[in-house]
Amino acid sequence: MPTGRQLVAYSTLAFFCLFFLSSGLTSPDDLWQRLTTTRTPDFSRYTPPQTLSDTQFPIHDPHKRVIILGDVHGMDKPFHALLAKLSYDPSSDVLMHVGDIVAKGPHEGSMAVLSYMAAHNVTGVRGNHDQMVIEWRSWLDWIAGLDGGAHWLRELHADLAAAGPEDPEAWAQKHLKHGHRRKWGRRIPDGWKILSDHYRVAHAMSAVEYRYLLSLPLVLHVPAAHAFIAHGGILPSDPRYKPYHRRQPLARVPALPKSAKHNKADPGKQLSLLRRLQEAAVLAHVPQNRDPWVTLNIRGVLDDNSVTRTKDGEPWADIWNRDVSSCVGFEAHLHLHRTERSTPALPCYPATVVYGHAAARGLDVKRWSVGLDSGCVYNRHLSALVLDSKLQKSPFEADAVELDVEARKKITIPFGEGSGRVVTVSCKD
Ligand SMILES: *[C@@H]1O[C@H](CO)[C@@H](O)[C@H](O)[C@H]1NC(C)=O
Repeated sequence: MPTGRQLVAYSTLAFFCLFFLSSGLTSPDDLWQRLTTTRTPDFSRYTPPQTLSDTQFPIHDPHKRVIILGDVHGMDKPFHALLAKLSYDPSSDVLMHVGDIVAKGPHEGSMAVLSYMAAHNVTGVRGNHDQMVIEWRSWLDWIAGLDGGAHWLRELHADLAAAGPEDPEAWAQKHLKHGHRRKWGRRIPDGWKILSDHYRVAHAMSAVEYRYLLSLPLVLHVPAAHAFIAHGGILPSDPRYKPYHRRQPLARVPALPKSAKHNKADPGKQLSLLRRLQEAAVLAHVPQNRDPWVTLNIRGVLDDNSVTRTKDGEPWADIWNRDVSSCVGFEAHLHLHRTERSTPALPCYPATVVYGHAAARGLDVKRWSVGLDSGCVYNRHLSALVLDSKLQKSPFEADAVELDVEARKKITIPFGEGSGRVVTVSCKD
């Protein structure tokens, strides 16, 4: 007969064997990890880049317009004023946005803009503020699913309503320091401010509105216009290497997939496929563009080649314009002599980036980039880029540019191989 001690030893061993088997773990290190970390889910819920078809971005359809809005930030009145000024007609206009549709502006405005965007399933990208709202909602859903979590949340909101503090964020900091609330307060990730603007939108929005925000990808690729839409921006090349280094997507002609090779009869089709592949490679193979933080927040690149969201460093749009201005095309590059290839001539075609996020720079139109955040939430302007097939056919005439938004409120700008227009409204009360 085994002694009591042996029994304890056997059963302990059996328990751990079962634990290992049931949890599928192989080493004590894994077990230790599992027992010591409180697992929190990934709240970010990113949606990877998506590609728009020619019908989703009908830039060559003579009966349609594409309208891309700058950062709205819940400024509901200017948003509708701009739609009115454009004589927006949903049956012929495709409305889009560059992200940051909510937060920073008035709460009711954020809810109204979000409701409109979700109800009309407006195509767009996610902004860094939309992202914070998503993360809070995903956190709220997680908390509500924990034992006692839903009860705690209801209590928090009841206490908030009773206290009616001037500054809910500061109130929450103090409120969560006491008693059983401390335990829940510790579930809030570091640096997050409960009851903030973003939290309140996250808490108030409907399931449909949440699903809409989740559907917004980090970047949109528009082969029909040779364009990208990203909230912060994207880089044309990995800044750690020269733009003509062979690892850079714009420095090498992409390989045609086998299925397309027999299609030699149509060089036009083949060229547009190659361009599309090369543009997709900029998103997929420049490592910074695969980092969601970068596409949501980038403003510049520092001397050490790291990406920054501050005003320091070289603006990423300058880097973009410099690199793509060196594109000479596949054919022309092939015919350059080897020695000439060391000069910055790249086997590529220029593409345009439409973005928001940089209110400090205001409306920022460059040859191959259009920054649309003209600071509406700071009582400046709300801007939209308008593209139609007529303007696409007319190449941009340099004399026409007039960036004095105040003076004209409607300007013609270069866009891709043709032109576009920027239309703005004032956001002053
Ligand atoms: C919204 O539009 C996208 C395409 O832009 C589509 O894939 C999606 O199914 C639509 N969602 C709803 C709820 O209609």
